[in-house]
Amino acid sequence: MEIAPSIIAGDFSRLEDEIRSVEDSGIGILHLDVMDGHFVPNFTFGILIVEAIRRMTSLELDTHLMMSNPSLYLERFYEAGADILTVHIETGLEAFRSLEIARERGKRIGLAVNPPVHPKVLLPHLEDIHQVIVMTVNPGFAGQKMIEDALYKVEFLRRERDKRGLSFRISVDGGVKREHLPMLRDMGVDVAVMGSGFFGLSRDERRALARIAS
Ligand code: DX5
Ligand code: ZN
Repeated sequence: MEIAPSIIAGDFSRLEDEIRSVEDSGIGILHLDVMDGHFVPNFTFGILIVEAIRRMTSLELDTHLMMSNPSLYLERFYEAGADILTVHIETGLEAFRSLEIARERGKRIGLAVNPPVHPKVLLPHLEDIHQVIVMTVNPGFAGQKMIEDALYKVEFLRRERDKRGLSFRISVDGGVKREHLPMLRDMGVDVAVMGSGFFGLSRDERRALARIAS
C-alpha cells in the first residue's frame, strides 16, 4: 500500500519544505485537494498552485477535484501537470463528461464516492477509470474523524475488479491516521490518503509511516 499525503494539511508558508519532506519519506504520491466553495463548503486552490507544485517536484500529483463542474477545467488541470484527476460521481453528467474527455486525451482519471453513496453507482464506469477514491469523511475539510462504515466499499470494489480483470487503484481518503494503516493494507487498499495524519507528525515519524504501510 502506498501513502499519498494531502498537502492541504501542510503548512503553505513552507510549501516547498513540506513537499521535500514527502519526498524524503520515500513516498511517491502527493494528493492535491481542489475545492470550489460550491460542491463542498470550502475553498483551497486551483490550477495556478497545481502548476507551481508541478515545477517543484516529480512526485505523482494525484489531484482530487471537489468541484461541481470539473469537465470545464479538466484539460487545464492536466496541462498544469496533474498526473491523475479524480472527479466526484455525485456530480452526475459532469463526471461522465470528464471521463469522456480523459479517454479522448489518453489521460488518467478516477471517480470519488462520498460516504452516504452506494458504490454500485460506479459499476458502469469501472472499465473507464484508473482509480476509485472511497471517501471516509464528507469532503471539505482536513482533520475530521474517519467514517469507518464507508470501508465496506473497498471489499465491494476489489471483488468487482477481480471478477472483471480490471486494474483501477482503490484509494481511501479522509481521517486516515497511523493506527489505521495496517487495517487498510490488510483490506487491500492500494493508496491511503493522509492529511493531518501525515503533516501533523515530525519528520522522523513521517519517514516511519511508509514502512508501516508496506
Ligand atoms: C477531504 C479531502 C481529504 C482530506 C485529507 O475533504 O479530500 O483529502 O482533507 O485530510 P485528513 O487526512 O486530515 O482527513
Ligand atoms: Zn482528497
